[in-house]
Amino acid sequence: MTNSSFLAGFSFYVPDKILTNKDFEKLVDTSDEWITSRTGISNRHIVEDEACSDLASAASRQAIARSGLVPGDLTHIINATFTPDAFVPNAACVLMEKLDIKGIPAMDVNAACTGFIYGMELARGLCSLHPEAKVLLTASEVVSSRVNLMDRSTGVLFGDGAGACIVSAMPFPANVRSGQILDVILRADGSLSNLLTVKAGGSAHPLRLNDRVGEDFFVQMEGREVFKHAVRSMQGVCLEILKRNNLQPEDIDLFIPHQANIRIIEALAKKMMIQEDKLYINVQDYGNTSAASTPIALAEAWEKGLINSGDTVLLVAFGGGFTWGACLLRFS
Ligand code: UT7
Repeated sequence: MTNSSFLAGFSFYVPDKILTNKDFEKLVDTSDEWITSRTGISNRHIVEDEACSDLASAASRQAIARSGLVPGDLTHIINATFTPDAFVPNAACVLMEKLDIKGIPAMDVNAACTGFIYGMELARGLCSLHPEAKVLLTASEVVSSRVNLMDRSTGVLFGDGAGACIVSAMPFPANVRSGQILDVILRADGSLSNLLTVKAGGSAHPLRLNDRVGEDFFVQMEGREVFKHAVRSMQGVCLEILKRNNLQPEDIDLFIPHQANIRIIEALAKKMMIQEDKLYINVQDYGNTSAASTPIALAEAWEKGLINSGDTVLLVAFGGGFTWGACLLRFS
């Protein structure tokens, strides 16, 4: 048994096609000015013919290589998503086939936008059970498959993408840049589930042969309510994880919140008293990529050289369910 887990190989992938705010001006009654000022989003990447497992596969290959591993070294696959390729098989099984590996456990986890942090805790649990564990953790979303682009109140908000890393029970070799998972806190509240839903096609709202899809096939959201809960819940869990680890906000070297809306990010950072230069923001380039949002931001910050040896990084996310959670990392 071990209580430590380590992570490396931070990688991300987004599809080539970009939808700009100007593109949306041609589709619906909106404006670049409204979208930018209310959300901070300018661009989002949207798939043309790729599925969840394709995005996960691209990010995973890089994560495996960056960790100094080959696919055959993996012991488990966890893929966070609410937009899998299909109900069955799960996208992690499709992914393992694309990586040409067989025989290890492969599962999806659905915690909406908090999926990567939920996956982190599950990977950590596997590491404490299996000292040889090398878990491929991906978060991959084709949100565009479940968003009505013709609904201006939701269509402009989301994008597609994937992030990946390897979580290991054993430290990585010194030549692989890596970090350690210090702590994770997960939370959920099902009583507020109706504020953010994708209902149709589930067993409570089944689609029958020849049914036409309606609005409930797509993301439905009470934006203002979700906004308030997002700020409050993320602040609460951040304070909790800092306190539990005897840290102050000024001990955080990089703060990576879920990238849903610049106003949510800035409100949260202000409440947390996080300085601007320690706050990572990329919502302008990708929109809200749901579970993929935090690992994309983590990998991008890593690639830009913003994470140094000894840094403490705080990730936090909030999403449908409601689910929310925070994760504290220390880099070596
Ligand atoms: O990742 C999971 C968590 N999700 C989130 O965190 C999202 C949380 N919510 C939000 O980010 C914001 O609430 C939104 C960006 C969704 C909406 O911003 P808002 O400032 O709360 O606007 P609103 O929904 O209150 O709408 C204000 C007005 C409305 O018009 P009226 O009723 O005041 O005439 C909307 O119809 O803006 C209108 N509107 C738009 N106008 C132009 C809504 N969407 C658009 C649009 N373009 N795309």
